[in-house]
Amino acid sequence: MSKYTKDNPTSIQKMFGSIAQNYDKTNAILSFQMHKKWNQELVRHVRRDDESEVFLDLCCGTGDIAFTYLAQSKKMRKVYLLDFCQEMLECAKEKSLQKGFERYPISYLQADAKKIPLEAKTVSLATLAYGIRNIQNPQECFREVYRVLVPGGRFGILELTRPQNRLLRFGHQIYLKTILPLLGKWLTNNKAAYQYLCSSIHTFVPPSEISRMLQEEGFQQITLTPLFGGVATLFICQKPLLQVENQSP
Ligand SMILES: C[S@@+](CC[C@H](N)C(=O)[O-])C[C@H]1O[C@@H](n2cnc3c(N)ncnc32)[C@H](O)[C@@H]1O
Repeated sequence: MSKYTKDNPTSIQKMFGSIAQNYDKTNAILSFQMHKKWNQELVRHVRRDDESEVFLDLCCGTGDIAFTYLAQSKKMRKVYLLDFCQEMLECAKEKSLQKGFERYPISYLQADAKKIPLEAKTVSLATLAYGIRNIQNPQECFREVYRVLVPGGRFGILELTRPQNRLLRFGHQIYLKTILPLLGKWLTNNKAAYQYLCSSIHTFVPPSEISRMLQEEGFQQITLTPLFGGVATLFICQKPLLQVENQSP
């Protein structure tokens, strides 16, 4: 059995800590730079460019989504980067300085995405890229996001998924099972981390199930867009503007 399993979040936290320094370089090689385009799509779909905007990026890693947002949007009020891995947050802080974003109102939160340390109805936009696959109970995380979003607030999820087309699915499987762990080992000396990546994609629930969970939490206008034949999927949804309060005695 792999030493990394989402049944043991501490093992996942340690794994990301061990690859944090090499994360960006490895990611760029393993995704053939496609993730950059997908990240842009995610941000483009959630942002509004509003002066009162409060942006929260969950499972932020080294901060790519938040920095993509900052590069596109100049009018935000506050930006939160949340991750449970301290090493990832350190890399994000360093990158923010390199990119000259220190003048923006950014806060770094070391926390679990299932226990967001923010008040209810305080966030206007939330994103979660390549993180939900690692969370044991996605529904708990969606409940938290719903709680912190303002009515009308948008939530975007980007996740690696399995293509529907049988031929593409076969090629994808070979890439994940053989090429990716070898490349991962070569680049980071941690083959197990990339074996975990492969198994986490294989065992992750299908996009329709994610959509169902979002709906169950009360999100509306849920859209699902397969990217590159379904190698990744973009989910966009919204907390309703008008909420029916529970009137039960
Ligand atoms: C694959 S990385 C994605 C990083 C980043 N979003 C990106 O676009 O590159 C997943 C991140 O999720 C974080 N993570 C996993 N489970 C988490 C949890 N329950 N709470 C907070 N962060 C978590 C990990 O520490 C890691 O930084």
